[in-house]
Amino acid sequence: MKVFYPFIAVTLLITALQTKADESVNNPIEVRKSSMKALGKSMKTLGPIYTQKRPFNADVVKEATDRLLDYADSMTLLHLFPEGSLSDDSKSKPDIWDNWNEFSNMMLDFEKNVSDFGMVVGMGLEASAVEFKHITESCSDCHKKYRTKRK
Ligand code: HEC
Repeated sequence: MKVFYPFIAVTLLITALQTKADESVNNPIEVRKSSMKALGKSMKTLGPIYTQKRPFNADVVKEATDRLLDYADSMTLLHLFPEGSLSDDSKSKPDIWDNWNEFSNMMLDFEKNVSDFGMVVGMGLEASAVEFKHITESCSDCHKKYRTKRK
């Protein structure tokens, strides 16, 4: 009965993907927050390594970078900001939709900065320090402009 296993695997995969897609449509605020949290987790790992407060560990750096590369997908992230999606749980500013072009360009730049970093990170800390800094600037530039501080 081996023959059926791939079929079951594909069915499960499709179901998983559909569930993920449904969640993004029904609850974009929760999904974008958890994507942002995943980005935050990587940056919390990488930050102290790049400021040399923690020792360099190639495996740890690779895992954090892979997560960054997974989540820094501008198309996916931008879809999680459908027009007017605001709630008490959201810190997004309404300006996002007044300045959608700028907001999307910031997201595209962010994706590019992460991808540039992904290309040089294997060369070590010093060789990738500038690219890492560019990522941190992308995060903070966007947050300064489009995220409120209040809870
Ligand atoms: C182009 C804009 C943009 C970029 C780039 C961006 N963010 Fe965000 N981020 C936001 C917005 C807007 C929110 C508020 C989301 C909400 O609450 O609706 C947010 C929220 C967050 C949160 C809080 C999530 C929560 O649970 O409330 C974290 C953590 C975060 N971002 C981390 C990062 C990190 C780390 C980077 C860079 C690696 C990054 N973000 C890049 C726009 C951006």
